[in-house]
Amino acid sequence: MKGLILAGGHGTRLRPLTFTGNKHMLPVANQPILFYSIQSLARAGVRDIAIVLGPVQEGVRQAVGDGKAFGVRVTYIEQGDPKGLAHAVMCAREFLAEDPFVMYLGDNLLQEGVEGFINSYKPANVDAVVGVTPVSHPEHYGIAELSGEHLVSVVEKPQQPRSNLALVGVYLFGPAIHGVISELKPSKRGELEITEAIWKLHCLRSQVVVRRVCGWWKDTGQPNDILEANDLVLRTKPLSEYQLEGVVQRGARVEGPVALGAGSVVEAGAHIVGPVMIGSNVFISGESEVGPGCAIGAQVTIRRAIVRHSIILSDTRIEGVILERSLIGRNVRLEAKGQLNRPISALMGDSSQVLLP
Ligand code: TTP
Repeated sequence: MKGLILAGGHGTRLRPLTFTGNKHMLPVANQPILFYSIQSLARAGVRDIAIVLGPVQEGVRQAVGDGKAFGVRVTYIEQGDPKGLAHAVMCAREFLAEDPFVMYLGDNLLQEGVEGFINSYKPANVDAVVGVTPVSHPEHYGIAELSGEHLVSVVEKPQQPRSNLALVGVYLFGPAIHGVISELKPSKRGELEITEAIWKLHCLRSQVVVRRVCGWWKDTGQPNDILEANDLVLRTKPLSEYQLEGVVQRGARVEGPVALGAGSVVEAGAHIVGPVMIGSNVFISGESEVGPGCAIGAQVTIRRAIVRHSIILSDTRIEGVILERSLIGRNVRLEAKGQLNRPISALMGDSSQVLLP
């Protein structure tokens, strides 16, 4: 079994935020989103993984390297312009050869992992395994209509959805998918659609298995989804991953699961409510409250501020504000001099600055 992780794409839904680098390197619970797919494949015993990259690649090769740190072997494949998920499979044709493979959209998180997909695959009589889960806005997803457990239709972003079952961003394919993809034509939005390939494969051979996935699934294409994913991951992480390496001064209160990186200080008077992950060399001043649901990157300073359900990337300074459901980039200054006022929800890209009186 091989693994194919897609980490190209347009990223148009995140672009207004000007985060530098590949969008799959944005952190969820202080770890790049991309790492979750690699770890998930590694846990299921998939050792040979290709990562598909598009025009924006910054950060991926440096962070993942040859995959040894994850216990896998990583090959990189250049897709160039993102012409669709099925086009990405086409670009990986040589790497995939005739092997079955798990395709994982690199900006997706799936709590149950990929083992269930692999267990449902039988080389002789299964061509594909797809996962579905109910969603509240089916018009934004690839939607499967089922009769019992049998596939009746698969449509990409239907205007009039016939079910609320979205295809999650993890798929398993046998080699028959390649023949179908080679005959696809670009859709109205100019992409080679994997949903169309799945539907054609099903019409041809009726060997597509549909699984209802357990637990949560998150597509982190938009800032709010990244924040929700952060909350979910923090809430469901094993307690063993919450380690206090930094210093909690006497008189500071720390409740629930909290990770505090080396060199970090929580000053007397501060209050941290888990689940919270705080990186290294972070300073949290005495009049501050952090958590629940926060991931704070390295070298961040939080002074006289309240931060809840938010992600703050590294080298940033937050002072004098109440932040809720916020995504704050690297090297940001967000400072207010006056009294703590009403909560704000902020989306700030890298190197931005807001200084309030
Ligand atoms: P999408 O979310 O479908 O698209 P996108 O990343 O282009 O983003 P947006 O909708 O904001 O413009 O992509 C799903 C995943 O697949 C994502 O991890 C990026 C990746 N991808 C590729 O690697 N190649 C492609 O051609 C496309 C379309 C996506």
